[in-house]
Amino acid sequence: MAAASLVHSSLCRPSSFLHQQYHHHRFRTFALSIPFPSSGSPASLFSSLSSGSPQKKSRWAPVAAVLEVGGVKIVKEDVVREDDPTNNVPDTIFSKLGLQLHRRDNHPLGILKNAIYEYFDTNYSGKFVKFDNLSPIVSTKENFDDVLVPADHVSRSYNDTYYVNANTVLRCHTSAHQVELLRQGHNQFLVTGDVYRRDSIDATHYPVFHQMEGVRVFSPDEWQASGLDATSYAAMDLKKSLEGLACHLFGDVEMRWVDTYFPFTNPSFELEIYFQEKWMEVLGCGVTEQEILKRSDRMDNVAWAFGLGLERLAMVLFEIPDIRLFWSTDERFTSQFSEGQLGAKFKPFSKFPPCYKDVSFWISDSFTENNLCEVVRGIAGDLVEEVQLIDNFTNKKGMTSHCYRIAYRSTERSLTDEEINQLQWNVREAMQSKLNVVLR
Ligand code: PHE
Repeated sequence: MAAASLVHSSLCRPSSFLHQQYHHHRFRTFALSIPFPSSGSPASLFSSLSSGSPQKKSRWAPVAAVLEVGGVKIVKEDVVREDDPTNNVPDTIFSKLGLQLHRRDNHPLGILKNAIYEYFDTNYSGKFVKFDNLSPIVSTKENFDDVLVPADHVSRSYNDTYYVNANTVLRCHTSAHQVELLRQGHNQFLVTGDVYRRDSIDATHYPVFHQMEGVRVFSPDEWQASGLDATSYAAMDLKKSLEGLACHLFGDVEMRWVDTYFPFTNPSFELEIYFQEKWMEVLGCGVTEQEILKRSDRMDNVAWAFGLGLERLAMVLFEIPDIRLFWSTDERFTSQFSEGQLGAKFKPFSKFPPCYKDVSFWISDSFTENNLCEVVRGIAGDLVEEVQLIDNFTNKKGMTSHCYRIAYRSTERSLTDEEINQLQWNVREAMQSKLNVVLR
């Protein structure tokens, strides 16, 4: 059991938000590795404008063939390559690249980002340098090796991460930029960006979400003057800064620190707040592993780092009940938020009825729930609310059957029976052709 220590004791802010589960911190734990291709030629990712083939237009998000993020051109043919086994980026994910919800001042994620900026600006007299426009396409070195993610860590698998090719991924955390920015000589910085993870489907999980990373570097004179050793000094400063941030965002809440594990920090902690009669994880953080500073030519320094998920916090602060809503362009959603208004409570415009469809099939050894979810999202897009395993058995011959219940529900309108039957039919077809399963 992780040790928890209480740092505050006072009443939490009253609110009527329903409790939910949030994104798992995938870097916290080890798990068995899943094999993935180890070879593959790096693609010309950032080639200049290419003519491009006619785009399949999805009805939820028209996909442009060329995007630009932070001055970098991203060409669709380089990112989505269905016939390349080292590539697992689908169209639906490509369509999210470049949307940068965190850079919209009237969007809940932009409002939250700005509120966190305000906290750091006020308390560190503008010394934190902010990055929110770095390309989400990074090397496996940046995403994993540079931050000491072990070679057999589950987050490296093709089942968990979107690979553009064997050496290039869609970043699965903003920690991917730590070493690059440390090397550039930055001592205090915040990195906000869209991050990508293959995952299951429910109201709090979406394969694209947003994180903010913070890093602060200290020089020897800073901790020497304090009489503390370097690590204790950094840990103390880290906790003080982040407790202040939690107060800034949530008001006078009860908080506790929980010891945890991340490959990139030691010691590592999670900050939890007591909110709506429940302990809720707010962020992960710790004292940066010395090896990371060494690789960044910062041998003599000590540093802290934190990472927080913006959706998780925004769902609580704005009472947004479904993570798909962040992507909604429906004016009944977008019009409810405006710049600087942290915590304006979202008023659901209506709850449309869900429709459940079950699908049973014999699995193969290569079956994974993440792959199934990718297929379902590929067909139903944001009309799928949840995919849940409801039955699982193995017969005498050793064949395993799964039954999944798919909940279809739009956040914006009622779906017709005809439309849902068609979706379910297409999902079944796609499962057969892409998942190597036998429908029952
Ligand atoms: N990168 C971690 C994650 O995505 C969060 C984190 C960042 C933890 C920095 C510690 C330090 O789960």
